[in-house]
Amino acid sequence: MTVLVLGGAGYIGSHAVDRLLTKGYDVAVYDNLVTGHRGAVNPKARFYYGDVRNTEQLEQVFTAEDITSVVHFAAFSIVPESMKDPLKYFDNNTAGLVTLLEVMNRHNVKQIVFSSTAATYGEPKSIPVKESDPQVPTNPYGESKLAMEKIMHWADVAYGIKFVALRYFNVAGAKADGSIGEDHHPETHLIPIILQVAAGERDELKIFGADYPTPDGTNVRDYVHVVDLADAHILALEYLAKGNDSNAFNLGSATGFSNKEILEAARAATGKPIPAQMAPRRPGDPATLVAASQRARDILGWQPQYDDVTEIIRTAWNWKQTHPQGYGERKD
Ligand code: UFG
Repeated sequence: MTVLVLGGAGYIGSHAVDRLLTKGYDVAVYDNLVTGHRGAVNPKARFYYGDVRNTEQLEQVFTAEDITSVVHFAAFSIVPESMKDPLKYFDNNTAGLVTLLEVMNRHNVKQIVFSSTAATYGEPKSIPVKESDPQVPTNPYGESKLAMEKIMHWADVAYGIKFVALRYFNVAGAKADGSIGEDHHPETHLIPIILQVAAGERDELKIFGADYPTPDGTNVRDYVHVVDLADAHILALEYLAKGNDSNAFNLGSATGFSNKEILEAARAATGKPIPAQMAPRRPGDPATLVAASQRARDILGWQPQYDDVTEIIRTAWNWKQTHPQGYGERKD
């Protein structure tokens, strides 16, 4: 009765592993450590080094372990990188899922919770975005994840593999005790970049685009704390274990913050001046992404604990201050 966590050494995956263990699950982690960190994996989980596209390595794990369900985080997720190198995304994310599903089917493992994204909606027609809204991605990352959702659907129809697709909005923060957190090389996400400026590792923040159709002209995003997000995966596993149908859920806070507002919140959370200047738009960025996440609350019983973005930033700052070198495994 083991949960296999693919990508369990990554930022979100490592928090999910930690929460699963806290709730008493037996956990095995499978990760190629390309973006993940061995030091992020709770030692109570069994660790397997391997790539999601490698059938042979996956076969070995599914043979060695008594796997009942899979949580799949192993994917690339950087929007601007996907604009430059789309095939990298379709190979790892989309083709990787096909390999994983083939192995799962051979081993009769029929439950999977997988990371989807707000990026599958593209530029939404109305805010907040509902799960039933059109999915028209504006970048290859979102397209690779939308293709994964569609593949999942047909794998359910044909093989009875039930799935929950969790469409994340913007994930931030770290475990409250500061023992695990976000450590990307290179870092591209807004909050950790702001904290690098606060810590004196960067000279200034560049805000990408001040001419969007939003109240202050900068992009608006919906931030969710990584531990709340991790807990939604456990609720999704419970939902599938009860025999429910495949489903998709938005995970966000239903509140939008502009990039300028996040900067101000970070100044408040850190007490640092954090110099910033405006810069041109970044390709592939939708103006506004805010989630309607009532479905996750109603059906999964999800109750996020963090509703204050300054508090979310404070947990990330705690991690940053206690781990100035991250996990100390430089990758760039
Ligand atoms: N931004 C800056 N300066 C920076 C970095 C980011 O202004 O140095 C801006 C971006 O242009 C954007 C906002 O901060 O407007 C948030 O950018 P992130 O890179 O932190 O996050 P994204 O919104 O691009 O993407 C994140 C995840 C994706 C997911 C998406 C869905 O990384 O996987 O949220 O909302 F698809």
